[in-house]
Amino acid sequence: MQSNDNQLSHVSPVRGMKDLYGKDYKSYSKFLDVALQIGSLHCFSVMNTPIVEHLDVFVRSIGESSDIISKEIYEFTDKNGKRLCLRPEGTAAVMRAIVSEKLTQSMPLKLMYYGEMFRYDRPQKGRYRQFRQFGLEHLGDKSPYNDANIILIAHTIFSKLNIKDIAVNINSIGGLESRSKYILCIVDILSSKAKYLSVDSKNRLAKNPLRILDSKDKTDQEICASLPSILEYLSSDEMSYFETVQNCLEICGIDYKIDKCLVRGLDYYTDTTFEIKKDGLAICGGGRYDNLLSEFGGPNVSGVGCAFGIERVCEYISVNIADNTCVAVIPVSDDDMPYAYRVFNVLNCDCKEFIHLGNIKKKLQRANKINCRVAVIIGESERCGNNVCVKWMGSGEQKIIDIDDLNSSVC
Ligand code: HAM
Repeated sequence: MQSNDNQLSHVSPVRGMKDLYGKDYKSYSKFLDVALQIGSLHCFSVMNTPIVEHLDVFVRSIGESSDIISKEIYEFTDKNGKRLCLRPEGTAAVMRAIVSEKLTQSMPLKLMYYGEMFRYDRPQKGRYRQFRQFGLEHLGDKSPYNDANIILIAHTIFSKLNIKDIAVNINSIGGLESRSKYILCIVDILSSKAKYLSVDSKNRLAKNPLRILDSKDKTDQEICASLPSILEYLSSDEMSYFETVQNCLEICGIDYKIDKCLVRGLDYYTDTTFEIKKDGLAICGGGRYDNLLSEFGGPNVSGVGCAFGIERVCEYISVNIADNTCVAVIPVSDDDMPYAYRVFNVLNCDCKEFIHLGNIKKKLQRANKINCRVAVIIGESERCGNNVCVKWMGSGEQKIIDIDDLNSSVC
């Protein structure tokens, strides 16, 4: 027999994870409906990858010194000694799958995905250890129009969901050459201020200095604000690429700001990076990645994409939890059960409930409680007359209807 304490501790979900049901599930499903619909409209097709992946899939792509890999990855060794992990994001996993499924000949490829991601971060509002993402990845056809298009699709998803007052922040971190020059410059400046940097950023100075721009520490952020902009280090081709992205956003009437510190927390980005924020929290992030597919042995094909934090977006989705779409079928007595059961199976509406326990008063109370729009009541005279008594719960109006007309009358 286990102690009470033990029982209580494993009744709650694991810290940073939550049960999904009721209103939260409704907004999750509303988000997914809209996102998948807009994704399909833009010719993206679904590819969902496994939750468990080889650890290397992420270490090599996201970068060993990123927070995600160095602190947050849920890794474990399986019974066969393989180093595996729960995926922390979807992009690298989709690249692995493209190579593994031999889809590299079908470029350009437009894929979308959704599912659980895992990061062992400190839980707080909007930050979970298990969370869900919806992502879009467009491979092949490197063009600033495609970068802008991903931002535009994300923007469309938010407006379809009626989520307003979002801030679109964009930046470009250029290619390897210009980024190396910029890194040399900031290492010089930051080394002279090293004693003011957070412990994490001091470590990053040697391992991955660009990551310091992504620091959440206030003092680090103040120091970074005085650094020169990475845009000054872009080649003229990279700059004109970035300007075309901006022109496209302007043509589509999308308000954006350039955030020179927006380098993103994952190492695979090149050129355009972006984040969409609401109330200061990123609800979607993405950018271009030139070398990710080739990291997995695929061709040298560039991609651009983004991912939404579904829990964060759902905070802003309003759903009507009391939507009264349900039709209840109610037999008056046990003798009416077989006929009522047949009627229940004939019903072709979105939501139906067979209420057969208790007396008629209890059954009607139950129909009310679950907010049914209509009750189809079946007593002896209906059973004998091959019809049903339909009661509209809102108005109380009642009508006898032939069973053949039931669907057209109530569904
Ligand atoms: P990310 O910025 O790491 O990018 O995550 C995308 C979104 O996931 C964030 O903007 C945020 O809304 C949500 N998110 C991240 N961490 C958490 C958390 N701990 N709890 C709740 N929500 C969270 C990526 O994952 C890239 N794969 C995006 C991408 C796709 N880039 C190119 N293609």
